[in-house]
Amino acid sequence: MGEATRIEIRRPDDWHVHLRDGEMLRAVASYTARQFARAIVMPNLVPPVTTAGAAEAYRQRVLDALPEGSGFVPLMTCYLTDHADPDELARGHEAGLFTAAKLYPAHATTNSAFGVTDLATIRPALERMQRIGMPLLVHGEVTDRDIDIFDREAVYIDRILTGLVRDFPELRIVLEHITTAEAAAFVESAGPTVAATVTPHHMALNRNALFEGGLRPHAYCLPVVKRERHRQAVRKAAVSGSAKFFLGTDSAPHAVERKEADCGCAGIFNAPYAIESYATAFEEEGALDRLEAFASENGPLFYGLPRNEERIVLERVPIEVETSLPAAGSALVPFHAGETLPWRLVQA
Ligand code: NCD
Ligand code: ZN
Repeated sequence: MGEATRIEIRRPDDWHVHLRDGEMLRAVASYTARQFARAIVMPNLVPPVTTAGAAEAYRQRVLDALPEGSGFVPLMTCYLTDHADPDELARGHEAGLFTAAKLYPAHATTNSAFGVTDLATIRPALERMQRIGMPLLVHGEVTDRDIDIFDREAVYIDRILTGLVRDFPELRIVLEHITTAEAAAFVESAGPTVAATVTPHHMALNRNALFEGGLRPHAYCLPVVKRERHRQAVRKAAVSGSAKFFLGTDSAPHAVERKEADCGCAGIFNAPYAIESYATAFEEEGALDRLEAFASENGPLFYGLPRNEERIVLERVPIEVETSLPAAGSALVPFHAGETLPWRLVQA
């Protein structure tokens, strides 16, 4: 069999992205819209998106930031707090303003200060979501400072997620941006209500990337990249063909001066060449024939949404990734900066 030179798949969706707001939103929206038909837009603005009204206004700002003629559809989410109101969630879901709700354990990551301190406080919200079929998206890391940061995902699964799945057997749950063998195994062995997203960077990097010749802030995100054996397990899950795993970039732009700092922000800006990065990983795994299911089919199936009919084409034409991209009066350093990727998205 010769080497593939062209890949044609249904247009993919991004089931986890940070589009930010204001000038930064206007700088990054087109990168996501270039590749993806839809995206689940994270609500961790300051202040977070907690009401249907705020989601509607934010959705309009996203639409206003898109290039002329873009058909991109932002799917909005509600940020769960200790005060999450089941009626507001249901109203927002019914009105199509909240596709899902996001659970950030308080202080787990960027802009999560308003997150949930104790799952008990949101039980009524979860019960309602279960009843109305509204998915719960989980940032699965414990926040205890006495737990090693590399163990926080696995400990979350043991301490919180296992019980959550048991107590809410009908609630659809996405464990976002999985990074460990434990997470891949948990999702694989759970029932059909549990799925996971996989990022391009967790397929490409292990924790050596954080220290490659020096401290590397642009490889820093949360959950932090793990040992090689975990990267291998996450890759195997993504390319396995299991419908439980689908594309979610977790593209999380921070201006370069906020990354290259004494206390640098967590987040990798992978939106510019996300689909090219996934294609590269799938090819390395000899699984290009499974890219379409992962990128374009498993997500809509889980969310109960139609698949995209439009198609995209990738060609084996190398692209050199920019070392820096202008944004919001500053710059963003994209994932794979300065590297050459073997695939290029050409508009279908
Ligand atoms: C995200 C961000 O910057 O908003 N950062 C990240 O490293 N992924 C927050 C998050 O989703 O954890
Ligand atoms: Zn995220």
